[in-house]
Amino acid sequence: MDSQALLAWYDRHARVLPWRARKGQRQEPYRVWLSEIMLQQTTVKTVGPYYAKFLAQWPTVTALAAAKLDDVLRAWAGLGYYARARNLHACAVAVVERHGGVFPDTLDGLRDLPGIGDYTASAVAAIAFDADAVPVDGNVERVVTRLFAIEEALPAAKPRIKELALSLLPPSRSGDFAQAMMDLGATICTPKKPACSLCPWNDVCLARERGDQETFPRKAPKREGKLRRGAAFVVLRADGHILLRTRPDKGLLAKMTEVPGSAWTHDFQLKDAEAAAPLDAAWRRLPGTVTHVFTHFPLELTVFAAEVPRATKAPEGARWVKLAEAHAEALPTVMRKVLAHALE
Ligand code: ADE
Repeated sequence: MDSQALLAWYDRHARVLPWRARKGQRQEPYRVWLSEIMLQQTTVKTVGPYYAKFLAQWPTVTALAAAKLDDVLRAWAGLGYYARARNLHACAVAVVERHGGVFPDTLDGLRDLPGIGDYTASAVAAIAFDADAVPVDGNVERVVTRLFAIEEALPAAKPRIKELALSLLPPSRSGDFAQAMMDLGATICTPKKPACSLCPWNDVCLARERGDQETFPRKAPKREGKLRRGAAFVVLRADGHILLRTRPDKGLLAKMTEVPGSAWTHDFQLKDAEAAAPLDAAWRRLPGTVTHVFTHFPLELTVFAAEVPRATKAPEGARWVKLAEAHAEALPTVMRKVLAHALE
């Protein structure tokens, strides 16, 4: 397998992305780290504007470390997987406190930081420092399992994939190699209908030779989380305020903003919904439901709406927020969907 063919392809076809260094230059570790954390489970297209917003608001890791966690969560709202935002902030603080605001330049030094696992450590080490490391994400797993026709299923095959990915590493240009592997996976070696005729490795790919490249990577059957259901309550006060509350400090979507609602359970019944209502009102059940898929379970929410008089007090634990200012709250995507469902 010749990594020079891949690098030559990359020189011609590298995607232009906001966080990429110009050709022949290295990217700052802060920018690599920020973009790689954002890009976990989130598409390049979605991340673009968030990345620009974070860099404008917090141009350095020191600035990010000095930010309030609430501000970071608010800026993150909509990107999902909020543990990433909490870890992002914790990591910035650690870089400042332990390393004087300078990212460590070794895999081990990076891995010791909060929220940085093997993938992110490898990405920063390779892309910012040209260290001998290969970040293995889903794209790279697909490329490698096809190249070598690896029959072992994920996740068991991960160590083998990592080993083979490292065996491909060229003697220099680790950063370009990492990004070339990602781009190849994203644009040519795609999950469905890979464009093998355009691939720099089409003459050496074992899966392509067999003709079953689309069937890689092999996957162990995954158990989907069981559906949970619940009710959400959208209360509008006559003067254009909405009732919101902050989720608990721990657990799913910790400290994020939500409309009041019931618990989300496997055995939720619609007849129990009004018992969970935050206040007495003439509730209207809105047609349809709002659905959202979290990492561990899919959720289906029935939405109730009510209008209440201006003098209505917020129940304990909830607060009135001007509707026009609600978008600036740390509202996770599922709650944005609820609001859109109720207010459109
Ligand atoms: N996805 C995750 N990291 C990426 C990167 N550096 N370039 C393109 N896509 C990515």
